[in-house]
Amino acid sequence: MEYYFAPMEGITGYIHRNVHHSLFPGISKYFTAFIAPGQKGKFSAREKNDILPDHNRGICTVPQLLTNNPQDFITTAMKLGEMGYREINLNLGCPSRTVVTKYRGSGFLAKPGELDAFFAEVFSACGGEGSLGEMQISVKTRLGVEEPEEFFRILDIYNRYPLKELIIHPRTQRDFYSGPVHMDLFSYGAEHSRCPVCYNGDIRTGEDMRALEERFPALDRVMIGRGLLVDPALHLQLQGGRMPDKAALRTFHDRIYDWYRQEMPGARPVLFKMKELWAYMGQLFEDGRRPLKKIRKAERTEAYEAAVEELFRECHTV
Ligand SMILES: Cc1cc2nc3c(=O)[nH]c(=O)nc-3n(C[C@H](O)[C@H](O)[C@H](O)COP(=O)(O)O)c2cc1C
Repeated sequence: MEYYFAPMEGITGYIHRNVHHSLFPGISKYFTAFIAPGQKGKFSAREKNDILPDHNRGICTVPQLLTNNPQDFITTAMKLGEMGYREINLNLGCPSRTVVTKYRGSGFLAKPGELDAFFAEVFSACGGEGSLGEMQISVKTRLGVEEPEEFFRILDIYNRYPLKELIIHPRTQRDFYSGPVHMDLFSYGAEHSRCPVCYNGDIRTGEDMRALEERFPALDRVMIGRGLLVDPALHLQLQGGRMPDKAALRTFHDRIYDWYRQEMPGARPVLFKMKELWAYMGQLFEDGRRPLKKIRKAERTEAYEAAVEELFRECHTV
């Protein structure tokens, strides 16, 4: 089984990616949080830092683009090709209102005709002679906007193009990130997709993984997001490894924290980022309510560091 680290905006930037890769290797691909390309293919400072080859040495990183404009996609993909990237992922899954109302992310799924035309234009730029050369394109998708059954039509569109792979998060835009995943429709996708399919959604434990493997014995790739934020060694455990000990988690935390402190101006943004991480990693501690509350409330690095110290000293991992 190949494990992919899901893109998570605000959390899985290059610092998190580098530290994760160095301490818990075994992820086949890390996806960047979405890059929303403009017409000139210019990157924001955040986006540039995330994709700089120097910031991704030895890591298989796949840049993800969020757009419904084929020319913007092509221009940006060409830039990424010049930087050495050979695969670009298209985000057709983001459910947030600001994105969806512009018919991007999962919002683009509401316009099957335009989606088809988008791919036709993008793929005409691929393939040896095209401006995108040998660039490969993968898709991360939801099932549809309102109803899971929209997926039948959407998959028909994907099947007209030589996608590298199709990552399916079997929820609709309306489902957001909760509610049951529609396994019957993932099953349809796994059976009828022309390109290889990757499963994504709610894999948090060995039991979740076993159930998935039992139902889909031919499945050979899984993307994990929140499960890996809670437990950065989840992919190793799923392959028979042990829970990370507290020392490894501490090192993981300290390296990310130190790196953020070097890269970010002032304590505020650093603490903001660390608190976002703790919203997930905190779930790994059995009796961490009190120090985790102190972490959430900390406004200065001293208070934050003391709370982290207390958590690691006094609390057990589950
Ligand atoms: C905070 C957060 C940010 C996310 N950002 C992105 C993103 O930039 N691009 C994307 O394709 N998916 C994004 N997602 C969705 C995840 O990649 C993933 O599809 C989703 O969390 C389901 O997988 P999981 O249950 O393993 O977490 C985000 C999810 C969360 C919780």
